[in-house]
Amino acid sequence: PQKIILDVDTGIDDSLAILYLLASDDAEIIGIAATAGNVDGAQVAANTLAMLDLGRAPEIEVALGAAAPLAVPLRTTEDTHGPQGLGYAELPVSARTLSSRSAAELWVDLVRAHPGEVTGLCTGPLTNLALALRIEPELPRLLNRLVIMGGAFNHPGNTTPTNEWNIHVDPEAAKEVFDAFSAAPQDRRPLVCALDITESIEMLPDHLAALAQAAHSAPIEQVGAGDPPEFRSAASNPIIRYLTDAVRFYFDFHYQYDLGYLAHMHDPFAAAVALDPASATTRPATVDVELAGTITRATTVADWAGMWGREPNADIVIGTNPAAFFERLVTRVGALARR
Ligand code: BDR
Ligand code: CA
Repeated sequence: PQKIILDVDTGIDDSLAILYLLASDDAEIIGIAATAGNVDGAQVAANTLAMLDLGRAPEIEVALGAAAPLAVPLRTTEDTHGPQGLGYAELPVSARTLSSRSAAELWVDLVRAHPGEVTGLCTGPLTNLALALRIEPELPRLLNRLVIMGGAFNHPGNTTPTNEWNIHVDPEAAKEVFDAFSAAPQDRRPLVCALDITESIEMLPDHLAALAQAAHSAPIEQVGAGDPPEFRSAASNPIIRYLTDAVRFYFDFHYQYDLGYLAHMHDPFAAAVALDPASATTRPATVDVELAGTITRATTVADWAGMWGREPNADIVIGTNPAAFFERLVTRVGALARR
């Protein structure tokens, strides 16, 4: 299995990414860095530990990151992910404890311990990784691969007209990370899953129903014919019950913003790409982050044509097969829920 360091701001879709990796025999999570983002760092850490319990994971080191982004105050988004970050779900507080090292130390120590072997997967703001790069500038060459969920290139943002959330929260960190890969060899370039692709990964109530079925759990039922549709699960299966309560909030959120009764699976998609890069088509580009703009600060810009005269520092995902992604998600997480 692939050794993975996960850097998350757990969050509804982050929590699904965690479950997806725990459900995947081809993944071995060797450590998790918790970053402040969707909710504050302590809540992210608590959510992450609770997800490890839910997924009946073995001992996995979880390290807490910086409380705030590199240069700006923390902004969180409870309206997107719920008061505690997990939608309508409330999970028992975990008895697991946090690591004594910081998230940045975790990155550096684990990558140095397994040079060339570790895939880094970032599904939150890039604060921890930027701090880790300050300690160990060789990380781009020591990692096997980095996969980032973040950015918006040919498409409007989800936070400002041009900003994607993860980059918006800590643009200085994002710039430091992309800059650090400017001289990276081609096979070490980060794979970037931006909104342009992740918003095509639409989870629907039918996918939840398929998950319940794959888990041999009680079905998810629509209650009434309201608008938006209301549904609940009588499932005693803890994973299916959790998913119903968490994702239902995410559906409601997307619905509220006229995106349909669906939920974008940004972070689980990035996890799937990390495990199977061949499932995505990519295009090289030089990525930079605007830090100075008065209305465009934190915008990610991709130079696809070498106009800046700089080598590509990223491979941006431009195509995939969403149906194949959901089939895998349902099979794997369904099987995890059955265990
Ligand atoms: C990203 O923002 C967060 O709210 C999600 O968890 C995802 O990582 C999408 O812009
Ligand atoms: Ca996230």
